[in-house]
Amino acid sequence: MDFQPHEPCPCGSGDLHNDCHGPILSAPPHKQLQVAQARYASGWNQNAERYKAQGLYHQLALNLVSVGNIKKVFDIGCGLGHGIEAIKSELPPLQSSIVGVDENPDCISGAVKLLGLELIPMAHQRLKSKRQLSGQFSIEVRKGRIPAPSEISVINADMLLRDPQFEIWLEEQSPFDAVTMWFMGVHKARSMTKIYNEIGIHSDRENREALERRQLELASRLLHTGGVLQLVNRVVSNDIDSYRDTLVQEAKTKLTGSGLKFSSLSTFQYEEPNNTGSIRVSTPGLDVMGIPTFATSILALKA
Ligand SMILES: C[S@@+](CC[C@H](N)C(=O)[O-])C[C@H]1O[C@@H](n2cnc3c(N)ncnc32)[C@H](O)[C@@H]1O
Repeated sequence: MDFQPHEPCPCGSGDLHNDCHGPILSAPPHKQLQVAQARYASGWNQNAERYKAQGLYHQLALNLVSVGNIKKVFDIGCGLGHGIEAIKSELPPLQSSIVGVDENPDCISGAVKLLGLELIPMAHQRLKSKRQLSGQFSIEVRKGRIPAPSEISVINADMLLRDPQFEIWLEEQSPFDAVTMWFMGVHKARSMTKIYNEIGIHSDRENREALERRQLELASRLLHTGGVLQLVNRVVSNDIDSYRDTLVQEAKTKLTGSGLKFSSLSTFQYEEPNNTGSIRVSTPGLDVMGIPTFATSILALKA
């Protein structure tokens, strides 16, 4: 089917086709996943730099350490490392360690650069993708040992992919004081991956929900008693005080039976970048222009 570059993208994102799926679909088929991952990383960099300039990452890090005694953190979907950078600045020097994971190799390269790490291929380039005859991409793990952790370790791993070697490595690093997940989102070719189709995910929202369930399961397993789960999302609202009650109720429902207990929900107002290519708050069917944006941070403690 032919799509017009300057018409809204049929995916419903509200972006022009040219700024959304257009460049991915017009790339050679075997390159489409790579193009989507690279575009996502450079788009998210615009968001992250804007959030950092407003002090948002720092506020979220302060919110995390407010529970006290945080030294060992596992960050899911670390992106370009801006969250790790902020958390690190709030942890006791020389006594702390942070492990960040991300499925997107371009995000991992960005994090390696931002955090001043030495490139370790067995940690930073662990996943390889292959286009199959069906047209879907399979994601495979390269063979080889994951290096021992250092003060900051970032690992190229997909938290929805079966990866026994990484699971064992993570168990060896546990218990953690905190399992964080800030602003979960994914590139626009995720629907072309085998794993997305096998799990039966059909939208960004379902992808985020699957990762939230995964974060909960990992937190129940890897945190020590009293350890904290922090989940940060973006919301738009003209009446955040009323919306807050709904968000607290939703969080408590999700935590039911997990062994974690709701502790607090904090909201931080901030501004999104408005440049082309940045990753917009996804609210299908709603024109979010002019509506205030908030980062919501849920803290839950392992009982
Ligand atoms: C919107 S970015 C947020 C990055 C970072 N947490 C921050 O606050 O700047 C979401 C990140 O989650 C990563 N991600 C999405 N699905 C993932 C998965 N299944 N496993 C690991 N990382 C994933 C994406 O590649 C992306 O870098």
